[in-house]
Amino acid sequence: MTTSIPRPDALAPTSPEAGTALIAQLAKELYAEFRRGSPGTADGKEVPAGTGTSEGLAGAYPTGANPVTPPVHPGVPPATSSASGNGAAGSGADRVPAFYFLHEPGAVGLSRVPAIAHVPSPSPTPVFDVERVRSAFPALHQAVNGRPLIWLDNAATTHKPQAVIDATSQFYRRDNSNIHRAAHALAARATDLYEAGREKVQKFLGAADAREIVFVRGTTEAINLVAQTFGRKFIGAGDEILLSTMEHHANIVPWQLLAEQTGAVIRVAPINDRGELILEQFAALLGSRTRLVSITHVANALGTVNPVEQIIALAHAHGIPVLVDGAQSVPHLPVNVQALDADFFVFSGHKIFGPTGIGVLYGQSKWLEQLPPYQGGGNMIRDVTFARTTYQSHPQKFEAGTPDIAGVVGLGAALDYVQGLGLPAIAAYEHELLAHATDALASVPGLRPIGTAVNKASVLSFVIPGIPAEDVGRHLDKHGIAVRSGHHCAQPAVRRFGLESTVRPSLAFYNTREEVHELVRVLQLLPKP
Ligand code: ALA
Repeated sequence: MTTSIPRPDALAPTSPEAGTALIAQLAKELYAEFRRGSPGTADGKEVPAGTGTSEGLAGAYPTGANPVTPPVHPGVPPATSSASGNGAAGSGADRVPAFYFLHEPGAVGLSRVPAIAHVPSPSPTPVFDVERVRSAFPALHQAVNGRPLIWLDNAATTHKPQAVIDATSQFYRRDNSNIHRAAHALAARATDLYEAGREKVQKFLGAADAREIVFVRGTTEAINLVAQTFGRKFIGAGDEILLSTMEHHANIVPWQLLAEQTGAVIRVAPINDRGELILEQFAALLGSRTRLVSITHVANALGTVNPVEQIIALAHAHGIPVLVDGAQSVPHLPVNVQALDADFFVFSGHKIFGPTGIGVLYGQSKWLEQLPPYQGGGNMIRDVTFARTTYQSHPQKFEAGTPDIAGVVGLGAALDYVQGLGLPAIAAYEHELLAHATDALASVPGLRPIGTAVNKASVLSFVIPGIPAEDVGRHLDKHGIAVRSGHHCAQPAVRRFGLESTVRPSLAFYNTREEVHELVRVLQLLPKP
């Protein structure tokens, strides 16, 4: 099988306005193709009972020239921003060369949709020195079961460059103190380092204000925080939360807990046989009771890159805010939350080469200032009496107790490292590697890929019928190759393909073609299914 990798240069808009018009045009084409009955609509049965049809969808797509006026929902302030993002789009962080478009015969118009709304111009293909990059990661240079380690479990967690290890260790060796609390030199140093980490995240995400960055333990805690603050405040009995079939459990269970507490209803937008969101059916599920869309940017079990800019535009056209789970996207794709106009965006430090136990909730100030605290304790208060306590404003309002200060320092170092390489260069390198690995795996007898979206990142889930996924994982481990086998904390996504588990190699920028060839060679040693 040959996979060609078109770079849709001709499609790159030259201005935000052109980007908006392009999205609107592509959305219309996509809608028209779905209406004609593309493969993507074959499994429409997954729309939950009692939800709408696609009627009226065409009118729901925003256009740059004639934006749809969002309806006002009681209790939910209307989204004020347009579908096209805003001025931060020119910052460079959003210069996305749309690398993630794998050509597939018969694929529908999604293959022509850029990953981010604003794609000013294609960057030249950057040079990526993978051997130099690998030398910065000590953990990659070890033997496992007598073989050189091949780390293909990057969707679960990534290894850390020396810069992250050094920054964390230096914090404990020299700067260790609690923050925001004492008038001594180390407290000042630690506080400065912590707040500098917040500013690094702000710049990394393209957020308007560092106060929109809340430090949490990880993606899971960030989503729970939104569920228990935004959800408790704005979502009531009978109100709907719209998810998709491809979500990680961290973007399902917090909403189920909220639904149990409030009587809210969870709706699920279906995916097609390639593992792509069926955008038409997603749009049809946006209704007058929808209070929030919470959706992944890149699906951890399937690798699908969701068109989050379109999803946000569609939701905002109905006045519905959107939370984007960026856990699997930020290590692979440039993200600009202002260009996306995401209401909330969450990610974990350990998946982007930073420490475990630290993560980020980005929330637009217009939301964070309205939300109640998540947890109570020190650091988040302004004044405490037994009669009444007042709170700090955001982000401190959401950061009760001593935070993971060293984690923030390490995360800042990781973001510095990633930005030093450059996400466009990373995206280009990984795209080539993913395309190569997709082709190479096709030579393994009986291998069935799971998740064949046109627009994919990092993940190469598969099964070999007749050989349990866990057995394949153990076989690979004997040869020093680490992959995840199982349901990947995404059981609904895996079950959509009639399976309970898959084998999931997942790539990062430090992986090589040679490692992919070794993966394929070792898979070929398995008994014929
Ligand atoms: N969410 C992580 C994964 O996909 C743990 O493996």
